[in-house]
Amino acid sequence: MNGPSKRTAVAHPNFALVKYWGKRDERLVLPHQSSVSLTASPLSVKTTVELGAGSEEVALNGREARGPERDRVLQLVRWASEAAGIRPGSIRVRSQGDFPEAAGLASSAAAFAALAVAVRSALGLPREPREESMLARRGSGSASRSVEGGVCVWERGARPDGRDSFARQMFPPEHWPSLRLVVAVLSREKKALSSREAMRLSVQTSPFYAAWVEDAEGMVTELAEAIRNRDLARTGELAELSSSRMHAVALAGRPPTLFFGPKTVEVLSRAREAREAGLPVWVTVDAGPNPVLLTDSAHQEAVAALARSAGALEVVGCELGGGARLVDEHLF
Ligand code: PMV
Repeated sequence: MNGPSKRTAVAHPNFALVKYWGKRDERLVLPHQSSVSLTASPLSVKTTVELGAGSEEVALNGREARGPERDRVLQLVRWASEAAGIRPGSIRVRSQGDFPEAAGLASSAAAFAALAVAVRSALGLPREPREESMLARRGSGSASRSVEGGVCVWERGARPDGRDSFARQMFPPEHWPSLRLVVAVLSREKKALSSREAMRLSVQTSPFYAAWVEDAEGMVTELAEAIRNRDLARTGELAELSSSRMHAVALAGRPPTLFFGPKTVEVLSRAREAREAGLPVWVTVDAGPNPVLLTDSAHQEAVAALARSAGALEVVGCELGGGARLVDEHLF
C-alpha cells in the first residue's frame, strides 16, 4: 500500500424475525436456510480500520481482543485484502458499540458490518453492498444483514463458493415508520456459549434440525407478505414462531442449549397475557437471555413498561434504521 489508509464506518445491529440457525459451511459461513431481519436504529457500532500504520491492534469496546475473537477480525481484513490483490501491511482495528456486547444483542452483527464497509474503503474499493454483505457474513453470519437498512433478507444461496449468499434490502426503513422494537436488557453478562458453537450442536445433534430447515423458506415468503402489508399481528406471530422454533431446536440438542433466563420467561408470559388483553406485542429472542419486543409507536411506552415490570435493567426503543455508512470521525 502507498502509506497508511484509515477509514471508519457505523452500522446498526439487526434483529432477525425469521432466524438464521445453523451453517452448511463453517469456513465460508453459509447458512442452511434464509433469514429476515429488521435493522435497529439508534443502536450502533462504530469501527475504525487502519492499514499499513506500522503497529497491530484489535480493540473491541475498549479492551484488546485475544484468541479467536482477534483472529476473526484480522482474518476478515486479510480476506478483503487478498480479494483486492493488496498486501495490507500491519492492521489496526478499533470498534466501539453503544450497547452491551455478546448478550444476544447482535453487537457482532453491527461490528462486522461496519468493519467490512470500512476495510473495503481503506483498500480503495467502491461501495458495493453485495460484496460488503458477503465479506461481513464471513465475520458473523448475521452481519451480512446489517450492511443495508430497513428490512433485509439473507438468501441462503446454493453455490458452494458462497457467491450467492448475501443479504439484500426487501423494504426501506420508510416502508413502516410506526414499527417499533423494544429491546429489553435483562442481563449484561457475556453469554456462556457462542451462537457459533450452539448452532453447531443443533446441526449435529438436534433431531428437530431438518424440520427447522424445511420450514424456513416458507416462513420467509409468509413474513415478506405480512411486512409488505404492514400487518403487525401477522408479522409478530411469525416472528414469535420462528424464535420459539429456533429455541426448541437448540433445546433438543445434546447437550441441550437453553438461552432463556427466568426473566426471559417472565417477559414471554407477560407479553402473552398483555396480548390477550389487547396490547399488540410479540417477542423474539436471539442466542442469549435478552428479548426484543415487537410493537408499534402507539404502544411503545406500554411495552417498555411491561419489560421493566418483568425486570429489565434497561429498555431501548428502536425503529427501522438505515444501512452502514462511512463517516469522517475516527476512533483513533
Ligand atoms: O451471526 P451469529 O453467528 O452471531 O448468529 C446469529 C444467530 C441469531 O442471532 C440467534 C439469529 C439471527 O438470525 O440473527
